[in-house]
Amino acid sequence: MGAAAKTTLRFITCGSVDDGKSTLIGRLLHESRSVYDDQMAALERDSREYGTQGGNVDYALLLDGLQAEREQGITIDVAYRFFATPARRYIVADSPGHEQYTRNMATAASTGDAAVILVDARKGILVQTRRHSRIAAMMGIAHVVLAVNKMDLVGFDREVFEGIVHEYRRFAAECGFESLTAIPLCALEGDNVTQRSRRIRWYDGPSLLEYLDALDVAPRRELAFRMPVRYVNRPNQDFRGYCGRIAAGSVAPGDAVRLLPSGVETAIAKVHAGFDEVDRATAGDSVAVTFAGEVDLSRGDVVVAAKDPAPMADQFEARILWLGGHALLPGRPYLLRIHAKEVTATVTGIKHRLDIDSGARLAAKTLAMNEIAVVNLSTSHPVVFERYADNRVMGAFILIDKLTFETVAAGMVDFALRRASNIHWQALSLDKDVRAAIKHQRPRCIWFTGLSGSGKSTIANLLEKRLHADGKHTYLLDGDNVRHGLNRDLGFTEADRVENIRRVSEVARLMVDAGLIVIVSFISPYRAERRLARGMFGEGEFVEVFVDAPLAVCEARDPKGLYAKARRGDLKNLTGIDSNYEVPEAPEVHLDTTSVHPEESVDRILKLVSDT
Ligand code: ADX
Repeated sequence: MGAAAKTTLRFITCGSVDDGKSTLIGRLLHESRSVYDDQMAALERDSREYGTQGGNVDYALLLDGLQAEREQGITIDVAYRFFATPARRYIVADSPGHEQYTRNMATAASTGDAAVILVDARKGILVQTRRHSRIAAMMGIAHVVLAVNKMDLVGFDREVFEGIVHEYRRFAAECGFESLTAIPLCALEGDNVTQRSRRIRWYDGPSLLEYLDALDVAPRRELAFRMPVRYVNRPNQDFRGYCGRIAAGSVAPGDAVRLLPSGVETAIAKVHAGFDEVDRATAGDSVAVTFAGEVDLSRGDVVVAAKDPAPMADQFEARILWLGGHALLPGRPYLLRIHAKEVTATVTGIKHRLDIDSGARLAAKTLAMNEIAVVNLSTSHPVVFERYADNRVMGAFILIDKLTFETVAAGMVDFALRRASNIHWQALSLDKDVRAAIKHQRPRCIWFTGLSGSGKSTIANLLEKRLHADGKHTYLLDGDNVRHGLNRDLGFTEADRVENIRRVSEVARLMVDAGLIVIVSFISPYRAERRLARGMFGEGEFVEVFVDAPLAVCEARDPKGLYAKARRGDLKNLTGIDSNYEVPEAPEVHLDTTSVHPEESVDRILKLVSDT
């Protein structure tokens, strides 16, 4: 049997240098490499596929599952090493235990089949042992080896070993691992690493390597065929191949398949792997398939077995690991990438944050870097998925900041929320156009943004008076007023402002749907939420008005005395002072209130509104 036919086992090692991690890995590599040097070439070839760069992996490797094609902004520090035995090949992912450990370890664990969790026999189970175990469990590691090292330093005492194993088993019950095996060893001298120890006679189990060689890593639940389409290959008129990597199951010519999200059923004509036509291809293979008839299929769509299709949903419960330097803001739209699909997604609620050290569930309004939480997510379009526990490729996703393109979270789908399929959009007999027609007007959302004291309220108020005098049906939503009612529960943190703007955008949308001309006058300091608001309206319906005055001018005006308060230290998070204002990049109207009179400002807005 050649090396190519062997299975590959991926595992991670957890523990610190003090626990003997480097010694253990070194010994595994050394003892297998010296014997099976000839197989290293094949492994090295493979390693290229996994994106290693001199032992270090770039972010592109944030796994098959997490699919982050060279996202900027995040460095992941994981070293991958390769070795082989006559039984199988190995990829060991080793992440250093410094302060970024969560992200590094999660990355390493997300493609792992097994975790070797190392403890020092003298110290037993530590906080870090639990932390590593929880991350391994979260990332879907099924098999755990508790490697109790430095047994020589406790005189190979069986009771010490069994005490540690007992304590760990009790704890591990909460992690839900599929299997847990404990092995006493002394990495330094090689006891139970590759060879069985003659010094630990009371132990009659396998050495670590024997155990790994025999480990069965077949998935818990075998899914039917799933293949996300990555691109369409059309070299000439006669050939149209849909390319992707098979995420689950297998495919053969003649198979009945369903195309998602369209739901169209068809049959596979041919399956190509590389330049060859093949009879069958299975999970992990990169293929191009062709169909019996014409199909309409593009990047991000999924080809699935017709008899057992994958689910689709637009609301999920998921676990996320926050990677961004900037906190997670519920309500803010992010780009979500799952397999080959990209959609807009917002976190609609943080159910709880998970304290990785204690396992406690904590309340949270936002998440900081390296924090983990269970959240509800809502996507702009339904996505085809599987639970992460069932299939990592179909259940892992990342969130990307829409403005900076930084990868801000790695996530795992737990399940679709039932309400996703239970709430439908009611089709109403009357629509916006007929409601507006009776008012003889074109409904709009005129959105004022600017610092406190810039003149928003003054101009907005004047604008409404002029529109009203002209017989228009209007409504003015002003930040100060809305914060007394609908948004009285919100303060001025970043998270609260995001929610403030999200809600008022929704209200404005309803009012525009009612046929009104709505004037929104909120500081609305962030581009992301102004963009979100804009996205809720039709072409030309949203008019962004930037009410611009230098901070010094606003501060001199200080109509509510807020700037003075902030300078005295009596008011926190005042926009312009210690809270950010992101200047609009392309507003429809830009008013400089230091040089333009309010009446003239209103004229300019009215001119734009009546011209379009
Ligand atoms: S926004 O940033 O969330 O859009 P919004 O327009 O609703 O703010 O509310 C701003 C109004 O709240 C200001 O006009 C001001 O009167 C009042 N206010 C009280 N505290 C603050 C603060 N820390 N920052 C900004 N405005 C504040």
